[in-house]
Formats: sequence, structure tokens, C-alpha cells
Amino acid sequence: MDVYGLIGRPVEHSLSPPMHEAAYEAHSLDARYVTLEPDPDRIGEAVAGADAIGVAGLNVTVPFKQDVLPHVEPTPTAEAVGAVNTITFDDGAPEGHNTDVAGVVRAFAHHDVEIDGQSAVVVGAGGAGRAATYALADAGAETFVANRTVERAEALAADFSALGVDAGGLAALDERVPEADILVNATSVGMDAPDTSPVPADVLHEELAVLDAVYSPLRTKLLRDAATAGAETVDGAWMLLYQGVAAFERWTGVDAPVAVMNESLRDRL
Ligand code: ATR
Repeated sequence: MDVYGLIGRPVEHSLSPPMHEAAYEAHSLDARYVTLEPDPDRIGEAVAGADAIGVAGLNVTVPFKQDVLPHVEPTPTAEAVGAVNTITFDDGAPEGHNTDVAGVVRAFAHHDVEIDGQSAVVVGAGGAGRAATYALADAGAETFVANRTVERAEALAADFSALGVDAGGLAALDERVPEADILVNATSVGMDAPDTSPVPADVLHEELAVLDAVYSPLRTKLLRDAATAGAETVDGAWMLLYQGVAAFERWTGVDAPVAVMNESLRDRL
């Protein structure tokens, strides 16, 4: 039996175990997916130990996505983003991937939203903002990142200067969003607070595709405002789904049963 795991703190309410186990069942794979909360001071030992005992693959979530970097060989994407959410244990050193990037790209692709050559705005410059900004800029969008703490957005843009990323404060949304084709919320605004949105409703428009990384609630105020404005809406469960799909495919080498995994997630949201 293959054992996969998620390391993070806390992980008890994660939707990844049922999503991945639904995929194993659909493909008749003899595998299990467990959640683990390692000692924050022993992350290197946790990764090496998982490798030593034959764990087939790990997902990594908050607060360990940066902490695992020194303990893996990062892919160029994981290195650029500065975070790892998926580890493979093949030959040699454990390899660190960032499938949050693929999650953003594939969530838009699922909705037939073109990224290349488009104009994108990302709100938020934390871990999710970094992954979304890299995903869009690397896929060919002219990308602007807006953040409450403007210095954090500027630091992110400086890291991605080769991709032409530009940055500003939240006030810039008033000018940037009306001109944009793509908008991503990568802040926590709207999570468990159904009446808050990081973007003023009156700048949303019908040419826009809006992805909200928040998936609790699924229909955030931002997405409700976007739908009212006639925009395309992509909820956070699509991003969660496709980062998991990309991890599954890295680990197993077979196409993921996307519809089964999606149903498993949506049953629980
Ligand atoms: P994550 O790794 O999930 O992105 P994070 O690094 O804590 O989490 O980042 C949270 C993001 O949400 C940041 O962009 C944060 O803005 P600051 O950098 O200014 O803190 C943003 N955020 C959180 N609460 C916010 C609020 N009430 N209004 C605007 N932005 C907020």
C-alpha cells in the first residue's frame, strides 16, 4: 500500500484526504492519504523521515510551505515562488514542487479563460498571492499585484521583475480593475465573513474573469458582486481541486479522475 500525507498545522479539517482517496478508489489504487502535524522545529527530519520510511508523497500546507524548501530539491517553479506544496520521493533527494501555480492556471483553463496576452490583477501578496502572481505572469499575462501593505506587493514585484510584474496599494484597484481581463483574490478577505470583499463592486465588469482563492464560503461577496456585474466567476474550490489534481498526477503518473475529485470536494463545501 502507498501512503501519502499532508503536513501542516492545523490539518484536521483539510479536504485533501477525501479528495485524494476518492481518486485512489476511482483508479483502484491501493493507497491512503493521511494528515500529519510535525514538530515545527523538526521539519527537515520530518521530510527525511518520510523519505526513509517509504512515504509515497507529501503535500505541504501552512505554515510549512517555505520551511521545507531547504530540505528538498525545488523545481524552478517552486524556487521562483519560494514555496513548496508537494514533495515527490523518487531517486535521490526529495523534490519540491509548487502545484498551487498549476492550480491557478488549470482553474482558468477549465473555464476557458485565456491567460496569455491578457491583463491580470492579483489582490494579496502573501503565499497565495505569490503563487497566483507567478502563475499568471509566467503564463503570459501582464500582471499587477495590489496589497494592503504596499511594501509587500513591491517586494513581490521586485522578485518577479523578469516577468514584468507591477505593484501598488489597494487604492490602485480603482484604476486597474476596469482595464483588466483577469482578477484574482489571494487575500483572506471574505473568508468566514460573507459580507466583505477586497475589491469595490463598482469596478467589476462583464469582460472580467474573477477567481477567488477563498473557498469558505464558496460564493464569496466578491464572486456575488462579480456575477452581478456579468463577469465570469471561478470559485476557490477549482484552485483547490487543480492543485490536488496536479499533485496526484506528479505522484502517480496517471491522469487524475478530475470529476470524481471535484465531486468529493463539493460534497463537503
Ligand atoms: P497566505 O499565505 O494565505 O497568502 P498571508 O501570507 O497571511 O496568507 O497573506 C494574507 C494576505 O491577505 C496578505 O496579502 C494580507 O495583506 P497584508 O500583506 O497587508 O497583511 C491580506 N489581508 C488579510 N486581511 C486583510 C484585510 N482585512 N484587508 C486587506 N488585505 C488583507
